[in-house]
Amino acid sequence: MAVRIRALAESDDRAGFRSGNEALDLFFHQYAGQNQFRHHVGVTYVATESASEDESEQLLGFATVAPAALDADELPNGKSMPPYPIPVLRLARLATDERHRGRGVALALLRFTIELAEHQRDEVGCVGVLVDAKPESTAFYERFGFVPLDTLAGEILSAPRAISMFLPLGSVPRRTAPPA
Ligand SMILES: CC(C)(COP(=O)(O)OP(=O)(O)OC[C@H]1O[C@@H](n2cnc3c(N)ncnc32)[C@H](O)[C@@H]1OP(=O)(O)O)[C@@H](O)C(=O)NCCC(=O)NCCS
Repeated sequence: MAVRIRALAESDDRAGFRSGNEALDLFFHQYAGQNQFRHHVGVTYVATESASEDESEQLLGFATVAPAALDADELPNGKSMPPYPIPVLRLARLATDERHRGRGVALALLRFTIELAEHQRDEVGCVGVLVDAKPESTAFYERFGFVPLDTLAGEILSAPRAISMFLPLGSVPRRTAPPA
């Protein structure tokens, strides 16, 4: 069974997705579609799988991204940057369905997000990926080279508060195998 990553479609049935995190599930079920198709404030990418060509696709996980900007002095390497807003790609949300954890789905979505940031860099400018990480997920992002941004409080309204983390594009590790 091949895992594929593609943009969310209006026809996707999101109602059965369960990440175990209520806020993330509510976002995916109710807001991801209107944000993407009506307001155009972000795009959600889904990792999908189907048992055969005739079977409908299952949604294994999702990543929501949006363009953002940081001041140069908020960036780890900002001293060498010009003194105006610096473009980054924000990974606003990332979740894997509980039934598909531990298969590399989040890793694949993260790598896909980094590739999007690289396209953004080459097409319109982008210096890295910004994420507002839940405290229990900072270790996940640290493994991929994200560093906490001391100057920024996370923008997701949650308790405990999210921690802003940043991956400069120059430090991205090489691609590894896709999810099994
Ligand atoms: C965190 C989450 C996205 C991981 O999804 P997943 O698809 O099971 O993750 P993967 O299988 O791609 O894991 C990749 C690696 O990260 C590790 N990992 C997973 N969650 C981790 C965490 N919270 N802290 C540290 N490492 C973690 C895995 O063990 C795996 O390591 P390995 O390659 O050595 O086996 C998932 O548990 C989830 O949806 N949690 C609820 C929502 C959430 O916390 N989202 C993060 C947004 S801030």
